[in-house]
Amino acid sequence: MKSAEIRKRFLEFYKKRKHVVIPPVSLIPEKDSTLLFVNSGMFPLVPYLMGEKHPEGKRLANSQKCFRSDDIEEVGDKRHTTFFEMLGNWSLGDYFKKEQLRWVAELFFDELGLDPERIYVSVYRGNKEIGIERDTESVEIWKDIFQERGLEAKDVDFAEKKGMQEGRIFYYEDKENWWSRAGAPEDMPVGEPGGPDSELFYDLGKSLGYHEESPWKDQPCHINCDCGRFIEIGNSVFIEFVKREKGFEKLLQQNVDFGGGLERIAMIAQEKKSVFETDLFLPIIKKIENLSGAKYQENTKSFEIIADHIKASVFIIGDERGISPSNKQQGYFVRRLIRRAIRHGKQLGVKSDSWLQDVAREVVEIYKDVYPEVKKNSDFVFKEMEKEESVFQKTLERGIKEFEKLKGEKIIDGKKAAFLYQTYGFPVELIEELARERGQNVDVKEFYREMEKHKNLSRELSAGVFKSGLADGEEKTVKYHTTTHLLLSALRKVFGDSVVQKGSNITSERLRFDFSHKEKLTEEEIKKVEDLVNEMIEKDLFVKKEEMGLQDALDSGVVASFGEKYPSRVLVYSIVDDNGKEFSREICGGPHVEKTSVLGKFSIKKEEASSAGVRRIKAILE
Ligand code: SER
Repeated sequence: MKSAEIRKRFLEFYKKRKHVVIPPVSLIPEKDSTLLFVNSGMFPLVPYLMGEKHPEGKRLANSQKCFRSDDIEEVGDKRHTTFFEMLGNWSLGDYFKKEQLRWVAELFFDELGLDPERIYVSVYRGNKEIGIERDTESVEIWKDIFQERGLEAKDVDFAEKKGMQEGRIFYYEDKENWWSRAGAPEDMPVGEPGGPDSELFYDLGKSLGYHEESPWKDQPCHINCDCGRFIEIGNSVFIEFVKREKGFEKLLQQNVDFGGGLERIAMIAQEKKSVFETDLFLPIIKKIENLSGAKYQENTKSFEIIADHIKASVFIIGDERGISPSNKQQGYFVRRLIRRAIRHGKQLGVKSDSWLQDVAREVVEIYKDVYPEVKKNSDFVFKEMEKEESVFQKTLERGIKEFEKLKGEKIIDGKKAAFLYQTYGFPVELIEELARERGQNVDVKEFYREMEKHKNLSRELSAGVFKSGLADGEEKTVKYHTTTHLLLSALRKVFGDSVVQKGSNITSERLRFDFSHKEKLTEEEIKKVEDLVNEMIEKDLFVKKEEMGLQDALDSGVVASFGEKYPSRVLVYSIVDDNGKEFSREICGGPHVEKTSVLGKFSIKKEEASSAGVRRIKAILE
């Protein structure tokens, strides 16, 4: 079954069930402040899940183009892509679990012809701490569904420890079976909707060798394990909760948010071992084979990187809000995608210096009817690709030669990495990739220090990308912002490192800061915190800014903030004294003052409960 047929059947299926098919939105979010790209079909529907009336009614379906930058490093495992299409259906306070799960089963078993025997499902285990119960309702519905198809479906728990246990229905915790834009319940900011979900997995079968070849083959295999035997093909989220200050509350309506990746569904329906062998990729793969003389099966990783990255670039550059390669925000991603593709092309033996558009043409051919914008904007896309190519091709070879000179060095120092970036245009992630392939590491921290020296630091960062809790950019609010970092650091000194930020709101008159702590603060404790903050202010500490990859930031011991979805590159602000001693280190979008002495005198005006286990401080600078 061709992917176009799957897409059509999916939409027809829901049309027959009174859904209105809505058009996909642009890949570039209009004004969402935390994500650079639309990453799911529900993204533009949040207000309607919360109760606002959708002009098209309560039942919607569509096919949405999505880009997940987080998955860039996963590309190469046959199933992950950065760009993908999500088939989605929604109930906005209309039908709920029973209809949804039955329809999903009808869709996959009857309409798309998947063998129920190879389908396994997961459900939410429940979490007493947040007062949300185990999803036994979904279990009962699934049991009936399988029974009607002649299968006894056993529900089992703790598969992550005990393995399959001959089960077909598996309970998992928050991390696996709860969905919100911010992830698990504890990561959700107040006001965010979410709920338990039930996922569908397809058993690719041991016979394909996924399990046997896997580094995880000796661990208990279960549907969410990493051995590759099972692949997730759809997720029904039951969005009926919203996070409030005091914990989870039911929304006024019960919603369904279903999403399934078309590429993966096509892979199963077309009985392929990789999404790159489906008709959504095959012509692209063939073209790369022609251009390089190499074979996909012998070079799966490089082929998948090239195919995925060029496809994603076509969609981002060719979007209604088209983005060109640059050093900033979304543009930096396009640059990274394109340069990485060029480099892997070279590795495969592509001779031409201008070949991306040959591959891009195949992408346009595949999608021109469904996403006409890629056809309409194709000349622009090709031109932009050619420009980027002509800049990078010139330096790539010399840069690689330069890189090879570093052979034998275990850690590539930041200065050399900065040199490769500045002279040859190697994005640092590319340098890291080259290093990894040769068993080397890169001193990324030093790289950024170096880059900062050269005042060459901009990339995917702007105040708008981060939620800093700032009301405006006035001088006073900037001061309060830096003060919250000092406050968190003082709180952790007094109460230990278990204290984390739970919220922050700043105006030009005061700061308000929520943090995890059970008991009311005593007068003494309040005084201690105040004194610590004032001491730091008086020490006239420096505020230092560095940009780095998210993982590096986390590894370097930053205090990560509540419920925040960080981009893969982040700014880290640390507050240090003249000797480099660190008083605070946080991921943050800024802005901040340069030196703490400008802050004045810190004074806590109020301390109260905010919600269970969360205290709130209001404080001013005098
Ligand atoms: N929003 C859910 C997901 O992205 C289901 O569509 O998995």
